[in-house]
Amino acid sequence: MQRFQSALHHLKEAGLYRRMRSMGSASAPRVNVDGRSLVMCAANNYLGLVDDDRLREGAIDAIHRYGTGASGARLITGTTDLHLHLEQALAELKQTEAAIVLNTGYMANLAALSTLVGAGDVIFSDELNHASIIDGCRLSKAAVVVYRHNDMDDLRHKLENYATTGQRLIVTDGVFSMDGDVADLPAITDLAQAYDAWVMVDDAHATGVFGEHGGGTADHYGLPADSIHIQVGTLSKALACEGGFIAGSTVLIDYLRNRARPFIFSTALSPPVIGAALRAVEIVSAEPQRRKRLHALAQRLRKGLSEVGLQVIPGEAPIVPIVIGDPERTLEYSRRLEHHGVFATAIRPPTVPPGTSRIRLTLMATHADEDIEQIIDACTKAGKELGVIS
Ligand SMILES: Cc1ncc(COP(=O)(O)O)c(C=O)c1O
Repeated sequence: MQRFQSALHHLKEAGLYRRMRSMGSASAPRVNVDGRSLVMCAANNYLGLVDDDRLREGAIDAIHRYGTGASGARLITGTTDLHLHLEQALAELKQTEAAIVLNTGYMANLAALSTLVGAGDVIFSDELNHASIIDGCRLSKAAVVVYRHNDMDDLRHKLENYATTGQRLIVTDGVFSMDGDVADLPAITDLAQAYDAWVMVDDAHATGVFGEHGGGTADHYGLPADSIHIQVGTLSKALACEGGFIAGSTVLIDYLRNRARPFIFSTALSPPVIGAALRAVEIVSAEPQRRKRLHALAQRLRKGLSEVGLQVIPGEAPIVPIVIGDPERTLEYSRRLEHHGVFATAIRPPTVPPGTSRIRLTLMATHADEDIEQIIDACTKAGKELGVIS
């Protein structure tokens, strides 16, 4: 135990020790934390559906019909008609032939990468890809070539120089979770065609948020769905539930059903989660105004923060990161934001590269205009108090 104690001590010294906060209410625009009402700016509840009564009803109806747990893995007793309907609805949302639901987005990335490529294949992975992609790459046993973030010249160079007789796969986040920028998918799909590579996109932060129909990054760029071979998503962010999925061709999904260990060897998601997710997918298609509102709010926030001189990473997503640099200072910034009525978390290494610790602000379609003004005001006050801006 001594080794863990000293490791924890080092984390504390470096400002990298993590604590959990207990939320006293749903992650809605206003949350109750330790008895105080704060503007929530740290949740991935992009469309504001986490406390929507239609999702609640979907969960409750499913409990009435099927009970609280799935009681078995998907291939044994864990599949209900709700699971099948959800997979069909996700395939429609993604404009693919089929989809498979897994227990988390994390598991979806592990399942896709560890099942679809292996020894002898080469994965080309953006340096800022999510941890679950990195872990999936490790599990796959394929060779991994990391290219510079969203740098298409570097990707081309690496595709050209890395000879293989196996399969090539380019993998990227659709929207980068900690930076809020969007992958250059048109260029990636062109390169994939030129170098005979498959493309895998993790649209955890884009599904429901980007694209005319909420289909994600491919929908945003108007790319044909079949130019992206593997589309990963999560039910835990805009869809306000829990779980992950992979969408693609019928044969790909059928293969995953038969071979993906994270799918085969884990109990299925519980009926209430699936019931709620089904309602969320319906709302994504039926209520595009939520996406419109969300993007308008994000634009207003980016503009307001930049105007007071804060260093905001440019991007299009409702993820607005203010780079502070030092982890301790970033933690202090988040404490001061809380003091000024805004809940936002400090993001530090290893989640982001050393020297780029940041406050990651995330918005919801249900934030009020006044909430955005309060966030800008709190960020300005905290920035001045800490000498980040003058
Ligand atoms: C880009 C990305 N992929 C995958 C995941 C994992 O999804 P989940 O939370 O459903 O496991 C996350 C975040 O949690 C993410 O940001």
